[in-house]
Amino acid sequence: MNRAAYTGPAFDAVDIIRTKRDKGTLSPEQITWTIDAYTRGTIADEQMAALNMAILLNGMDRAEISQWTAAMIASGERMDFSGLRTPAGAAMATTDKHSTGGVGDKITLPLAPLVAVFGAAVPQLSGRGLGHTGGTLDKLEAIPGWRASLSNEEMMRQLSEVGAVICAAGAGLAPADKKLYALRDVTGTVEAIPLIASSIMSKKIAEGTGALVLDVKVGSGAFMKNIDMARELAQTMVALGKDAGVNTVALLTDMSTPLGLTAGNAIEVEESVEVLAGGGPEDVVELTVKLAEEMLEAAGIHGADPAAALKDGRAMDVWRRMISAQGGDPDAALPVAKESETFYAPADGVLVGLDAMAVGVAAWRLGAGRARKEDIVQAGAGVRMHAKPGAVVRAGEPLMTLLTDTPEKFERAREALEGAVTIAPEGSRPANQLIIDRIA
Ligand code: URA
Repeated sequence: MNRAAYTGPAFDAVDIIRTKRDKGTLSPEQITWTIDAYTRGTIADEQMAALNMAILLNGMDRAEISQWTAAMIASGERMDFSGLRTPAGAAMATTDKHSTGGVGDKITLPLAPLVAVFGAAVPQLSGRGLGHTGGTLDKLEAIPGWRASLSNEEMMRQLSEVGAVICAAGAGLAPADKKLYALRDVTGTVEAIPLIASSIMSKKIAEGTGALVLDVKVGSGAFMKNIDMARELAQTMVALGKDAGVNTVALLTDMSTPLGLTAGNAIEVEESVEVLAGGGPEDVVELTVKLAEEMLEAAGIHGADPAAALKDGRAMDVWRRMISAQGGDPDAALPVAKESETFYAPADGVLVGLDAMAVGVAAWRLGAGRARKEDIVQAGAGVRMHAKPGAVVRAGEPLMTLLTDTPEKFERAREALEGAVTIAPEGSRPANQLIIDRIA
């Protein structure tokens, strides 16, 4: 732990709020003081909430965002992977991926072991889900015995022996962000580009990865509903990463419809294992391979063929070792929901829309996600889709199966899905492409 104590001048929180309220620019010292004072409890929650709202409404310039990010990094420890060696003694490049969150987004599960096949170390510090997007740790916790919390020493050992680790971020990493994010969550100030960019990048830079690929989601199931805002968020994060010496690239990808055919916990693990076995839904495979290529290139590992490593079992071998190293049994049966209910196509035609937000909310209401941090998720709950946009469907054919242990949840899940499905006359095509743009 190497938290740098703030030793500069003190300021008045009310002056700082007024400056932002009146569209002014905060000085580097004001920003450093603000983050330090809030982390220590000198600035009250109501003052920080007012400042967050002023930032949401009036924005921040690049220098302010960069300083805000640096101050959040300085609020906690920074990890250092520079000494990482393979068991044979070779230096290992580190590379990581961060997704801004989406429905059915299980990509981290096949991606981390896939990238490790080529000799890079993948330190994936992940979170639990809140709201309609699922959390990577919740999904992996569906595997019997699997443990999310590792000490720094365990993480380092696993990285050098297996090459990939997916675990919970320790409490020491950017503690200012933990406190600030919880406040933003209850004050309607999550959706501010300077605050999202600094929140994500402070954690990724403190994590100490050498290269980073950002998957910025766009569409109904994402934070960013429109492409211009997603592009601005991606550009801001890429600039923050590069300024901090992290080789950063962003992809803008579609989140108007869920990724793959599952949204939940155990069912998403099952689908990830299908991808690792060389099968799985096309969109999940396409995005996994593209992100692996980007992560490897960003880490200076050229000419790798991730698609082949999915097909020939090398990625599956790393997955099995990665799960076992954290106490999980890769061969154990996954939990299955006790109850199911099927949702049928209302008409003949082509499925051109399956709304990501509606499916995410349905899965969440079925018990796959949590409304409050302390809620317990159901491992078997979620939505299994039987068709994706582009498929020809017939009236009465099953479109989705809703899964839960608690059948009283079906009604609210069904309500979430009202209007979620768009069926157009045969010959129609869905509008969206999966990978929309690349920002470097
Ligand atoms: N994810 C984060 O870590 N922070 C945000 O502000 C939004 C998404």
